[in-house]
Amino acid sequence: MTRFSLFLATSTLALAGFAVAESHIAPEVASAMKARQAHMTLYSHNLGTLGGMAQDKIRYDAEAAMIAASNLVALAGVNNAGYWVDGSDTSVEGSRALPAIWDDMDGFMADQADLLAAAQGLEGVAGDGLDALKAAFGPVGGACGACHREYRQRNE
Ligand code: HEC
Repeated sequence: MTRFSLFLATSTLALAGFAVAESHIAPEVASAMKARQAHMTLYSHNLGTLGGMAQDKIRYDAEAAMIAASNLVALAGVNNAGYWVDGSDTSVEGSRALPAIWDDMDGFMADQADLLAAAQGLEGVAGDGLDALKAAFGPVGGACGACHREYRQRNE
């Protein structure tokens, strides 16, 4: 093999590798998926603090409970319509967003509004003692679960 043909062969291989790695997920789809999954991770972190207290796994702390609840309110109040771009459903690797979201965007956004309302309810009482937190925690966890049941693919 001449040096030139060796050069051609390796650069063709490099290009082919690049094309495979980059082929299937459009940058705007990848970016939207990353953003919404990060947003969900932030929900999860704050819900975890409150859930730990509600289930007596971590000691009730009024200040920490109020912070976590108001973080949830802030997060649930973010307009996240831009996260759910066309072509980012479960047909894309790494997405568990069911096509049902795009069939019923209003219903999906209503579930988001339910979470905001529940989080506001919790924020109002999170600092008023463990019993008050326990009572208001259920609807928040329920709002996460209601949306997941309808719009998120189950883990295999
Ligand atoms: C309006 C609907 C909706 C609500 C409300 C909602 N989620 Fe989600 N959640 C989804 C969807 C859809 C996905 C899948 C996203 C994807 O795979 O791109 C998801 C994914 C997740 C994930 C996985 C993230 C990852 O890294 O893939 C976690 C964790 C999560 N949600 C936690 C929560 C928690 C905690 C709450 C409540 C405080 C909540 N979600 C509220 C729809 C919702």
